[in-house]
Amino acid sequence: MKTRTARVSIIGMGYVGLCTAATFASRGIRSTGIDIDQERIDQIHRGKTPIHEPDLDRLLKTAVKKKLLDGSTDISRITKTDLTFLTVGTPSRSDGSIDLSFIKSASENIGKALYEKQGFHTVVVKSTVVPGTTNGTVRPILEKTSERSVGVNLGLCANPEFLAEGTAIHDALHPDKIVIGSNDKKSTSQLIKLYRQFYRTKQPPILEMSPESAELVKYANNAFLATKVSFINTIANISEKIPGVDVGRIAEAIGKDIRIGPLFLKAGPGYGGSCFHKDLQALINYGKEHGYNPQLFQATEQVNNDQPGRIIEKAESLLGTFTDKRIAILGLAFKKDTDDIREAASIKVIDRLTDRGAKITAYDPMAIPATKKLLADRIEYAETPQTALKGADCAIMMTEWEQLRKLKAKDFQAYMKSPFVVDARRIYDPDEFKDLNYIATGFGK
Ligand code: UDX
Repeated sequence: MKTRTARVSIIGMGYVGLCTAATFASRGIRSTGIDIDQERIDQIHRGKTPIHEPDLDRLLKTAVKKKLLDGSTDISRITKTDLTFLTVGTPSRSDGSIDLSFIKSASENIGKALYEKQGFHTVVVKSTVVPGTTNGTVRPILEKTSERSVGVNLGLCANPEFLAEGTAIHDALHPDKIVIGSNDKKSTSQLIKLYRQFYRTKQPPILEMSPESAELVKYANNAFLATKVSFINTIANISEKIPGVDVGRIAEAIGKDIRIGPLFLKAGPGYGGSCFHKDLQALINYGKEHGYNPQLFQATEQVNNDQPGRIIEKAESLLGTFTDKRIAILGLAFKKDTDDIREAASIKVIDRLTDRGAKITAYDPMAIPATKKLLADRIEYAETPQTALKGADCAIMMTEWEQLRKLKAKDFQAYMKSPFVVDARRIYDPDEFKDLNYIATGFGK
């Protein structure tokens, strides 16, 4: 007898929820996306993605057309599904600790909806939550409001995601691992079965552990990557003191050691984005609340906070003063292939430069609308890199976009008032730029 494929519902049509729903549907798993924002749901019905993510639009359109994905603001729709994934946001409070208010309200609404359902139902916590949240916060709310018990007629697992912006669909389709924090055998085997159907012939390793361990895996993963970035930025800062040293060569050499590995060793303006800073702060706060100060992660954050200041120092060494100087900022997004400027080093650099009297013209192929919302007319915006460079006293390269990589030394010479270039991402060849006043992160002069 052929077994029925499970139906899934996903609560929270933000970045993770949308990518999860679209990829499930792309593999034939019927998915219902739930969100309180009617406009977002309408967009999904039109097969339009409210966020920028390569391939998401295509997957969403096909899934909606094939009726494998639909959206609703009505949470009672989860009763028509077998598993509910919780993918609501977990923002930071002002002290850096995690704000679980969306997790709490979503858990309550899920529980109330499940009160009306017959039969077993599994809830899967995919949101990034500090250890103990699944069992200590979600579980009691769910059990109370649904009048169900975990292990009897309610399943509950923690199942963190590791999607990176710009490659989220690829990451969801080809993960290096699936981590399941199990509470009860039934929900775990239900989730494993779902992932077996999803990944078919290419099964990623599935690691089962306690919900608390699974929750910590997510933080440990991000803390390690962020620490790797701050580590190489520290080596870059030392390299700058030594004539003839290039941190790129150091990274290449140490990356050959399989114990270190080559990835996340690109020196630059410091990490940005919605996860690293937020998750490190949550982890530091969690440690402190439990009587342990994680000094290593404090240092990771400190190095990262200092990195924009080092870019300013480089520009200052070229210009002397910023008053009334025109500076071209090349790239605003926190990394290439996204329109996201959350925690972007570019914004920190712009803030300091404008405070010191500089006039900014910024170029970015995608992130200008988001930057306009934040900075409005505090800076000028250019439609091409060349327009940003026109008449500039200094150019600061902030994001490694392919469009910006293509710029040649002669473009800077042709358009700028004075060809002073700070390459925070190290994307240009110093030999080609030797006739310009060129300084890059991690090059000893
Ligand atoms: C990250 C994690 O990679 C992902 O697994 C998690 O689920 C969410 O957080 P994301 O924030 O999208 O993903 O971006 P990522 O590609 O990891 O880059 C983070 C920041 O580090 C970017 O600002 C990037 O430019 C910077 N970075 C990355 C470096 O400066 N050097 C590197 O070598 C790698």
